[in-house]
Amino acid sequence: MKKIIIINGPNLNLLGQREPETYGQLSLDEIKEYTEKKLPKNLVQLDWWQSNSETEIIEKIHEIFSKKIYDALIINPAAYSHTSVAILDALKLLSIPVVEVHLTNVYRRESFRHSLLTAQASSIIMSGLGKDAYYYAILTQLNGN
Ligand code: DQA
Repeated sequence: MKKIIIINGPNLNLLGQREPETYGQLSLDEIKEYTEKKLPKNLVQLDWWQSNSETEIIEKIHEIFSKKIYDALIINPAAYSHTSVAILDALKLLSIPVVEVHLTNVYRRESFRHSLLTAQASSIIMSGLGKDAYYYAILTQLNGN
């Protein structure tokens, strides 16, 4: 069975309450439940992890690098996507596939969201799929993309 870790960055713990007209009505826990229900049983083991702290995210990526137990990383670095060379550098440590996801289509939003520094380290970027973002990101890994 594949083992995938899903990292969510700052403010995503408040999905459902945070700008619902932009990010939707579902909380992160509800998106997790929605995603897991749609997936075929016993094909993938998911670890969902969220932090608002850049340091903690970097340390989590270091742990993924040293423990080598995951087959892929799906990451929504949220606002840090646009600013964090430090997260980009940490992601470059990894030899497993990295899929960067954004719930919204960042290219339809403010211009400061158009630069995705962290995406340089990912094999796939998905932007604009809303609550389906994680589901489709996981499928790319089950289909061997
Ligand atoms: C986001 C887009 C980012 O620009 C924003 O800062 C977020 C969420 C998204 O999922 O659409 O926090 O990553």
